[in-house]
Amino acid sequence: MTESTKTATLTIDGQTYELPVHSPTLGPDVIDIRKLYAQAGVFTYDPGFTSTASCDSTITYIDGDKGELLHRGYTIDELAGKSHYLEVCYLLLYGTLPTAAELENFEGTITRHTMIHEQMHNFFRGFRRDAHPMATMVGVVGAMSAFYQDSSDIADPRQREIASHRMIAKMPTIAAMAYKYSIGQPFVYPRNDLDYASNFLHMCFSVPAEEYVVDPILARAMDRIFTLHADHEQNASTSTVRLASSSGANPFACIAAGIACLWGPSHGGANQACLEMLKEIGTPDRIPEFIARAKDKEDPFRLMGFGHRVYKNFDPRATVMKQSADEVLDLLGVENNPILQVAKELEAAALADPYFADKKLFPNVDFYSGIILEAMGLPTSMFTPIFAVSRTVGWISQWKEQFEDPQQKIGRPRQLYLGETEREYVDVENR
Ligand code: CMC
Repeated sequence: MTESTKTATLTIDGQTYELPVHSPTLGPDVIDIRKLYAQAGVFTYDPGFTSTASCDSTITYIDGDKGELLHRGYTIDELAGKSHYLEVCYLLLYGTLPTAAELENFEGTITRHTMIHEQMHNFFRGFRRDAHPMATMVGVVGAMSAFYQDSSDIADPRQREIASHRMIAKMPTIAAMAYKYSIGQPFVYPRNDLDYASNFLHMCFSVPAEEYVVDPILARAMDRIFTLHADHEQNASTSTVRLASSSGANPFACIAAGIACLWGPSHGGANQACLEMLKEIGTPDRIPEFIARAKDKEDPFRLMGFGHRVYKNFDPRATVMKQSADEVLDLLGVENNPILQVAKELEAAALADPYFADKKLFPNVDFYSGIILEAMGLPTSMFTPIFAVSRTVGWISQWKEQFEDPQQKIGRPRQLYLGETEREYVDVENR
């Protein structure tokens, strides 16, 4: 972090405190309150971190008002259009686009780490068949800490790198195995002659009885879904990974914590919830009823796939995803998909409604992704695991950055205590 040249002045009970202000390369200035408690004896209060920067980072930048997402300075539109997932993984992890030789080497390394320890198969078999694949993933990824102890010494940069490669490589295998187990089919081993996205589709859809040929159009669409979800700066699951690892915890266990956080419907679980909502709406004539429910303060219902903490104009990932949905459905010959029709009409109706306009609520990345995934033949329960596969590189890159940051400290928020003041214990017979 560079030395600050600006300051902010805070006055409490007539006493003045000068606080350093840091200027980022992009985005709003940040008031540095690290010494505030020591100097003024007060905390700041910001539930949900709506105005708080929890770290400095050079990986991803979002301008929510402009609807801009940059990874290491490159726009998501360019990356989704010109690059591919493993190149974006390299970019996020190492900070620069790889040369051809670096890319070949990286792809070779990831490809050769895709198998999981054979004994880990037993973990899957311990779960009920009807377990949600995210439940299985939380458990199995956490269990990697028991299998890959030779890359768990986080003080060793080489071990950190091997752990990173292992997680990026094995996550599709684990997600596909969770799926295969849930439908009672045999696990399918990864194939080194396939690219990352094709290999994932192969592990999901191939069966021993018959050859499965990966459709390159679907592989490209899957790769784009992976790319669009790769990182999103300090979102809830990434912050969870950073907080968990700030104590020096095992890297695989930290990623399991990120998966747990991602599962929630306000975060990665929204893609499943969104498709379920679109199906519940069913036909365009029911859209007004659901719009009315979303606006009703007495009704907890929200339009899933709508709204974002940071984007207040549009989510650039949603724009690419919408195009992709059109392309994929067209290529699959299902351009008259009734759910896509409901999605498009719902989007138009919400955008024309002052409630959504005033609150700056727009479709987010999850609004159209489920339609594509379902068209590919994936069940809704696999949508969030696919998000987890994609986001693994983001979690890992942020985790790596945290370790390389000399200012890294254990995460330990403070609180505004509103409970009882000290009182005397009363024996049970006297209560
Ligand atoms: N439908 C209806 N009203 C909404 C919605 C929605 N989807 N989202 C926000 N609002 C309203 C909310 O009721 C509140 O109104 P008021 O000011 O009158 O109380 C206002 O908009 C602000 O909402 P908030 O919950 O304070 O905003 P937030 O920044 O804390 O929440 C969000 C962001 C994404 C959790 C929220 O918009 C939401 O629940 N959306 C639906 C779930 C979803 O699609 N999540 C995926 C997010 S993108 C991918 C990811 O992060 O994983």
